[in-house]
Amino acid sequence: MKPDIAIIGCGKVGTSLAYFLTKAGYRISGLFSKTRTSAENTARLIDGPDPAPSSSEAAQTAEVILLTTPDDVIAAAGALIAESNGYREGAAVLHCSGALPSTILAPAKATGAVIGSMHPLQSFAAARTDINPFQSINMAVEGDDQAVARATRLATDLGAQVHTIKTAGKTLYHASAVAASNYLVTVLDLALKLLEAAGIKPADGFKILKPLIDGTLNNIEKIGIPEALTGPITRGDVDTVAAHIEHIAAQVPELKALYSRLGVDTTGIAQAKGGIDNDQAADFLSLLHK
Ligand SMILES: NC(=O)c1ccc[n+]([C@@H]2O[C@H](COP(=O)([O-])OP(=O)(O)OC[C@H]3O[C@@H](n4cnc5c(N)ncnc54)[C@H](OP(=O)(O)O)[C@@H]3O)[C@@H](O)[C@H]2O)c1
Repeated sequence: MKPDIAIIGCGKVGTSLAYFLTKAGYRISGLFSKTRTSAENTARLIDGPDPAPSSSEAAQTAEVILLTTPDDVIAAAGALIAESNGYREGAAVLHCSGALPSTILAPAKATGAVIGSMHPLQSFAAARTDINPFQSINMAVEGDDQAVARATRLATDLGAQVHTIKTAGKTLYHASAVAASNYLVTVLDLALKLLEAAGIKPADGFKILKPLIDGTLNNIEKIGIPEALTGPITRGDVDTVAAHIEHIAAQVPELKALYSRLGVDTTGIAQAKGGIDNDQAADFLSLLHK
């Protein structure tokens, strides 16, 4: 039997969860948001209950409580419900933050609930009702065993792939997502600015790089790192990299620090691959640290 769900925080993620959990056969029994209008909009979308007068009354209706407020108010919103004895004995209280561990929900646990987190590795620019944004994405879950079991069932019913992670690893897990997504943007911004400095029209830059990016991702998927590394550093072409740095310093000096910093770590990967020996690595490092 599927548990009843309360959603506290009817924003982008809360509303998307309400919509697709309803589609997956769950009953949303309680809704609460900072403003009544947000909760009413979500209720209308799912033909759900009238917004509860308080978060604790919404939580009382359910066996699973999803705290989908902004990160910086999850702990306080969870504690407020605990203070009002809003959690049923054994209820599972879950938040959806990638950066925060489930332990921020300790006040809920102290009143007899089980606590966990369930992070959809997906970007929600708006509440989604068109296509299921949870389908086939990865969902990281952690927390008390019973909370993890509840989260796993919800995530699976939403169509997501579930990964259980350690509570202590939550922050590094989120740092990894930032590196893979946000820092990829930063690296590609560097590449596009270098192309523009080379005289390529900005509108053409991404089109030109895209097959190279796809090929690299393909190689990483097939043969992993360090084997997927190609290019002048792993070939030992010190003169080529020296020329890059010379031209960047002369024409786009603001890009030199990032280009060189990435080269330092690339040198380590080239060594791990066996592409260059220690002496060659030292040559690259003295060039890149200049
Ligand atoms: N957006 C993403 O791409 C994404 C991806 C993965 C995970 N997440 C996580 O999902 C969670 C929600 O993020 P979001 O993007 O959906 O945020 P959001 O769109 O800003 O929605 C948060 C909702 O919480 C409500 N709220 C604020 N303070 C509250 C309180 N004290 N009590 C009850 N409700 C309150 C707001 O209400 P009103 O509308 O009534 O003002 C708002 O609707 C966060 O933990 C975030 O890290 C987000």
